[in-house]
Amino acid sequence: MKILYLSACAQMGGAENSLLDILASLRAAKPGWPLRLVVSENGPVVSRSAALGVPTIIVPFPSALARIGDAAVGGPAGRQRSRWSLLAELLLAAPAVFGYVRKLRAVIREQAPDVIHSNGFKMHMLGVWAKPRRVPIVWHVHDYVSLRPLMSRLLRRCAARCALAVANSRSVAADVKAVCGTRLKVSTIYNGVDLENFSPSGPTLDLDILAGFEPANPETVRVGMLATLARWKGHETFLQAMALIPPDVPVRGYITGGALYQTNGSQHSLAELNQLAARLGLSQKIGFTGYVAEPAAAMRALDIVVHASTEPEPFGLVVVEGMACGRAVVVSEGGGAAELFTSGTDAMGHPPGDAKSLAGCIKRLACDSNLRRSLGRAGRNTAELRFDRARLATELIPLYQRLENLASRGA
Ligand code: GLC
Repeated sequence: MKILYLSACAQMGGAENSLLDILASLRAAKPGWPLRLVVSENGPVVSRSAALGVPTIIVPFPSALARIGDAAVGGPAGRQRSRWSLLAELLLAAPAVFGYVRKLRAVIREQAPDVIHSNGFKMHMLGVWAKPRRVPIVWHVHDYVSLRPLMSRLLRRCAARCALAVANSRSVAADVKAVCGTRLKVSTIYNGVDLENFSPSGPTLDLDILAGFEPANPETVRVGMLATLARWKGHETFLQAMALIPPDVPVRGYITGGALYQTNGSQHSLAELNQLAARLGLSQKIGFTGYVAEPAAAMRALDIVVHASTEPEPFGLVVVEGMACGRAVVVSEGGGAAELFTSGTDAMGHPPGDAKSLAGCIKRLACDSNLRRSLGRAGRNTAELRFDRARLATELIPLYQRLENLASRGA
């Protein structure tokens, strides 16, 4: 079985991590299957995929196509831009889109895959437009479609040409069905992580050095947020919560991550977050480490991992990674993220965007090392039971085989 994966991004965001975990899982389960990956740019995904034994083909997005996006037009990134500016952008990008579809079609013909598996809204559409009729395409949906004014329309229109949508949580699956209708088959496959890399023991990063801080006192409790700088990831909520922690609680906060996406208006800049931290009087209490290539080593340096998304989180890889590292994780309990844990048992939930309640969780955990330890232990256990990436191949292989069978029978 030859599978061609399509990725709309080569930077290491959640959807790209998930894709690489699928490749690793499949490589281990089916070493003989030829897997190939088409990416829209050069970036870390390319070398990581090659390291897994999956060759990549870079078919670069022209910049007009790379920049286009509806995430900031009333989507998850809020309303930073108007629909008119998106429309103008679309019109200008039309020739680039046609040209790209032509190139992608040639690559697909040459690769002659049995199944195509696409990641990212742009690749879902481009894949449908470029593929031969008889080759089934699987859309791997990592985000809420209904929040995207343009993509939801396009996906609904093209749903009949998609053989199967895979959603990363039941919450996302329900959303895909609501947008695309019942004709589109949707399966939920929870993400998995590499439990050896994301484990309680292993190397740790010195976050203080990375943030340019003096070493902290030994009793300091380290609280960190690891996320892309997308606006809805809740950096502001985290900063507001940290400002509400009483000064006698010895906490130090870290923001780890950098700007990732090229889409206009969808993310914070580090300078903006730095200014907010300064306005809240947090300059000595919050460090910015920038992007780290080894999130597991960063998590192991923390006592508390914070997930603070202000919108329902489709899945929330960081939640599972933090649990797998045996950390106490505080989770914004909305969307798919709420399906990953039991609050008070293996992590702790707070309502999305509620800085006061987040501060309450952080304070409670900062003052109770036993609670941190017991959540961490139970979190690791949950990760082992439910989120081992070996499961991805077990769930995907029968789906691919069924699609290939249907296609070869001309169904
Ligand atoms: C997207 C989602 C995130 C999820 C990741 C992997 O980045 O926003 O919630 O964890 O994909 O599925």
